[in-house]
Amino acid sequence: GSIVQPASKVKCIRFGDYEIETWYSAPYPEEYSCMGLLYICEYCLKYFNNDYVAWRHELKCSFHRPPGSEIYRDGDISVFEIDGKKEQLYCQNLCLLSRLFLGSKTLYYDVEPFMFYVLTEYNTSGYHFVGYFSKEKRSIALYNVSCILTLPIHQRKGYGSFLIEFSYLLSRSEKRLGTPEKPLSEMGLLSYRAYWKYVIAKYLQQRPEGQAVAINDICRETCMMPDNVISAMESLNALLKDPYTGRYAIRVDRELIDSIVEAWETKNYRRVDPAKLIWTPLI
Ligand code: ACO
Ligand code: ZN
Repeated sequence: GSIVQPASKVKCIRFGDYEIETWYSAPYPEEYSCMGLLYICEYCLKYFNNDYVAWRHELKCSFHRPPGSEIYRDGDISVFEIDGKKEQLYCQNLCLLSRLFLGSKTLYYDVEPFMFYVLTEYNTSGYHFVGYFSKEKRSIALYNVSCILTLPIHQRKGYGSFLIEFSYLLSRSEKRLGTPEKPLSEMGLLSYRAYWKYVIAKYLQQRPEGQAVAINDICRETCMMPDNVISAMESLNALLKDPYTGRYAIRVDRELIDSIVEAWETKNYRRVDPAKLIWTPLI
């Protein structure tokens, strides 16, 4: 009888100076994915199945930054906005790369309806890819993030929070509320919950004592959707639901609020400076 060989997968990628172990399989073409190790150009995201071809490519690759326009710069950090319609190949390669670390999302080829926001860190050799999020150009459900990723080599340093904060800054510029597309991965949920909790704690900390607040006001102020505001308030023990009227009262535990805000801010993660965004929303 014939022996059916199980398709082997990309187990590791060579990306710039790093080798990164992958978490999930991605639909790279068979002749690339059978090698175990895949070479990916860190600038244009093209992939190769041997080091010689990759090396040849890197000598002549014309990219030293992502395509699209740089819409944010703060020191060595930049964000590039890339239109899936104009840069199809780059965006498809980006989706393939992110699939290696995202368990559930299935978008690869139909990139046209999306904008991609790529975060880079600059040094003298170029703009190095750190992470990104994608966003539907027109979302009926008010999704302001479709997929979000920080490369594993850069995780737990605050870049995910930076990207999340940035996504809300775009929503603010659009004068809309926003929320990430569901379902979130476990890591996505942990990151968003931590971020929402901080934002709401900060809001409550700055709010004048004794002043009544409605959830809608908090939504408008933070661009967060009501259910995300409510779950963050619950995590801060800040909501009391009146069992008779069904209305919420807000209770502020100063000590808890202060400790959440302080813990976040003393991490000294990079923060988004709204004044540095050069961007006008698509209408
Ligand atoms: N375990 C526990 N807490 C975590 C974890 C984790 N693995 N990841 C993030 N958090 C929480 C922590 O509170 C963390 O703060 P701390 O590191 O000071 O404790 C906080 O979130 C912020 O973490 P960041 O460093 O800002 O986030 P990071 O750069 O690591 O990126 C992200 C988070 C994008 C979710 C990353 O883990 C990732 O790319 N994962 C793989 C892809 C993925 O699952 N994406 C989300 C899918 S859902 C969607 O796309 C809408
Ligand atoms: Zn290249």
